Amino acid sequence: MEKAGKGRRGIDGHTLLAGVIGWPVAHSRSPLMHNWWLEQYGINGAYVPLPVAPGQFDTAVRGLQAAGFRGANVTIPHKEAACRIVDRLHRSAQRSGSVNTLVFASDGKIEGYSTDGDGFVANVEAHGVSVKGGRALLLGAGGAARAIAASLLDRGVAVVMANRTRARADALAAMLEGITVVDWEQAGDILPSCTMLVNTTSIGMEGAARARFPLDLAQADPALVVCDIVYVPRQTALLEWAATHGLRTVDGLGMLIHQAGLGFEKWFGVTPVVGPEVEALLDADLHHPAADGAG
Ligand SMILES: NC(=O)c1ccc[n+]([C@@H]2O[C@H](COP(=O)([O-])OP(=O)(O)OC[C@H]3O[C@@H](n4cnc5c(N)ncnc54)[C@H](OP(=O)(O)O)[C@@H]3O)[C@@H](O)[C@H]2O)c1
Repeated sequence: MEKAGKGRRGIDGHTLLAGVIGWPVAHSRSPLMHNWWLEQYGINGAYVPLPVAPGQFDTAVRGLQAAGFRGANVTIPHKEAACRIVDRLHRSAQRSGSVNTLVFASDGKIEGYSTDGDGFVANVEAHGVSVKGGRALLLGAGGAARAIAASLLDRGVAVVMANRTRARADALAAMLEGITVVDWEQAGDILPSCTMLVNTTSIGMEGAARARFPLDLAQADPALVVCDIVYVPRQTALLEWAATHGLRTVDGLGMLIHQAGLGFEKWFGVTPVVGPEVEALLDADLHHPAADGAG
């Protein structure tokens, strides 16, 4: 690890480099978070946004590796392309069908991990909710849904999935054994038997088209935990609705922080503490008018 003492650092020939590859990527809060951690731990490192257009992903990754970067996070729309470029695909990435963390190993190989699912679980557990057994209703069947479903299944949670486009949920269930799929409009019928509800769709996200959820929270078991992975706004309409029914809620900001830890540790050699300070930093930044997006 390159130590430079706590506080602001200059960039020099020893600076450890990483970044986030996405398109667009300007909205990403990952540079803010990683650079704050670097400063806190006095590490001579830098983490930069890397706007890479579709079609340029492989060229960019090879270039970063050749330029001595330690690795990178990968966000929309490259998470699946990242699966194809790696030499060593970690089980988490195989299960989720995507890679959000690339590590350029010292033997010249590229390693790929997916930390979204475990980041979700770690955040829920940090809110005092045990993720073991029970039944989760997952709304959505996109990239985040697959990673979360895999992590829940690994912890013995029964997963029921409902997606607006049913064929997408069926395709996902064919790849991940153990998922039950129901029609989007039938999700409400399953709700009373569930211990956890997870919104992995973009419904409720700032800037997204307005849409309603196909269920009535009045029908939920009082012990239901309602999770939303959308974090802009942090307090989504779903979470507000759940609170009016006295249900426990978990917002999506902690998932963003928890998913970042593994990459930071691999690139910079320190396991960062996911505490209230980094959460407050991101929370304050999200109230900036330019806030949007994920990853
Ligand atoms: N907290 C975090 O760290 C974190 C991490 C990753 C993602 N996220 C957030 O999670 C959300 C999904 O991300 P993703 O990467 O999984 O995206 P994605 O692959 O594009 O999937 C989007 C999902 O949302 C559904 N959807 C979109 N608009 C809808 C509508 N009007 N009605 C019903 N369903 C709708 C889609 O259904 P169809 O299949 O029918 O289109 C699909 O299931 C985003 O809001 C993202 O910001 C948060």
